[in-house]
Amino acid sequence: MESKRSTFGSNFGFLMAAIGSAVGLGNIWGFPYKMGQSGGFTFLLVYLLLAVFVGLTIMVSELAIGRKTRLSPIDAYREVSKKYKWIGWLAVASPFLVMTFYAVLGGYVLQYMSLNLAELSFGLSDLFRQQITGVATFDAMLANPFGCFFFTLLFMVICMVIVMGGVSGGIERFNKIGMPALALMLVIVIARSVTLPNAVEGLKFMFVPGYAVKGGFIDEAPGLISVLGTAGGQMFFSLSLAMGAILTYGSYLGKEENLVSNSITIVAADTLIAIMAGVAVIPAAVANGINNGIPVNEIAMNGPKLLFVTLQDVFANMGKAGPLFGVIFYLLVLLAAISSAISLMEAVGAHWIDMDLKAGKGDTRKRITLTVSALITIAALIVAVDGLGSNNIHPAALMGITGPVPDYIADWLDFMDCWSEGIAMPLGAMLMALMIGWERSPQLVLEEVGHGYRSTFFVKFYTVCIRFVAPVVMAFVLAGQMIGFFGGHEALWYAVAFGTLALFAIYTLSGREKK
Ligand code: PFF
Repeated sequence: MESKRSTFGSNFGFLMAAIGSAVGLGNIWGFPYKMGQSGGFTFLLVYLLLAVFVGLTIMVSELAIGRKTRLSPIDAYREVSKKYKWIGWLAVASPFLVMTFYAVLGGYVLQYMSLNLAELSFGLSDLFRQQITGVATFDAMLANPFGCFFFTLLFMVICMVIVMGGVSGGIERFNKIGMPALALMLVIVIARSVTLPNAVEGLKFMFVPGYAVKGGFIDEAPGLISVLGTAGGQMFFSLSLAMGAILTYGSYLGKEENLVSNSITIVAADTLIAIMAGVAVIPAAVANGINNGIPVNEIAMNGPKLLFVTLQDVFANMGKAGPLFGVIFYLLVLLAAISSAISLMEAVGAHWIDMDLKAGKGDTRKRITLTVSALITIAALIVAVDGLGSNNIHPAALMGITGPVPDYIADWLDFMDCWSEGIAMPLGAMLMALMIGWERSPQLVLEEVGHGYRSTFFVKFYTVCIRFVAPVVMAFVLAGQMIGFFGGHEALWYAVAFGTLALFAIYTLSGREKK
């Protein structure tokens, strides 16, 4: 039997899959809060500028390298670069690490969806005479490592089955239905959220410049440099960049498709959904807080607490309709989480699937996906049992450190996140820009881009961005991530980040053959 390398069935299918990868937990729990905290439109503007000048550039580059080589990250980089042939390994290690916590969070979402479904169908709270409410339910969930691991496993099985179905038969098919469904559910939740009494305060938090401070939500607005780091990190994670996922999807894309217009569509859709997710969750969170007399600066509007404490409280206070909105909301979050997770899993496994195909062993996707899923699940065990650091097995506790500790050892989720999203992601993107811009040539990507976009404008734009803007912005992002994870002196982390850039720039330029 002759087996061929997989491809997407259509450009629409590819777009749904890539947007599915981009739209994930990052959009829903990070973007809206960071936007509000950093001055609404200021953040949005910085975010959009970065997305256009850096996000788009890296997106086009990843898609081009994937499609040109028709290889998964490890082999693709090996083929493209002498100096950076090892970057591909970063693009396998990072998605693996991200999956170790993404799967646990996906498991939480499954638990909350099930809880709301049970409440909706059987009136659980009547049965047990206790309501599913914010803090109590969340703490009870974290304190139950078996439950958390069970649901992590369930989430992994769902993703595994989809990835086993293949690129067009599994990933594309899931996203073609899942993404439109997600958009529809988002609109329903928005309609409910913005009509709650006091919802307008939440809208002001998001959109009115300076309102987060004026309205008493936060004490002090962050400075512009720190907004640059935060927005850059958020944008990269949200667009699934520098993690192998986009490169891998690009390697399954047809030669006739236009990489630039596809990239623009992905960036625009991801940003639009992030803003819509904000309008769906922030007004509800704020309104519910105010209506229940919670001081505005104590309303959790970021991270797991937003999703599982603040919002579950909103549903609990909605009366009879609560569980229905709960089910719709957590289902939409679940779709977002699955569509992102499957792209991460594909990025991890693709190399071995390709290798077997080349060796004439046929299509071993099922076996390899099973192995990848098993390894991720084993590593995710510690994150699941850790319960966001609440069960005293977090890295700091194991190292015997007491007192206040930096974020990266405060719990296993942050530990995994630190090396992947914190270090490997900005470093990988920085090196990729140096590799294309200086070791090889921007021409490498421009030739692959496709018809119509080889205009002089795009050639100039791309060349300047990949050579100059992207490496420098990535150094800011790297510094921002290290400040966030390791704490301590900011100046030190800026020095480390820009020192790294300088060293790799010298390495890239050294011994270059003149062309
Ligand atoms: N973009 C996803 C989110 O916003 O949650 C996370 C993600 C998926 C990051 C796939 C990286 C990736 F390759």
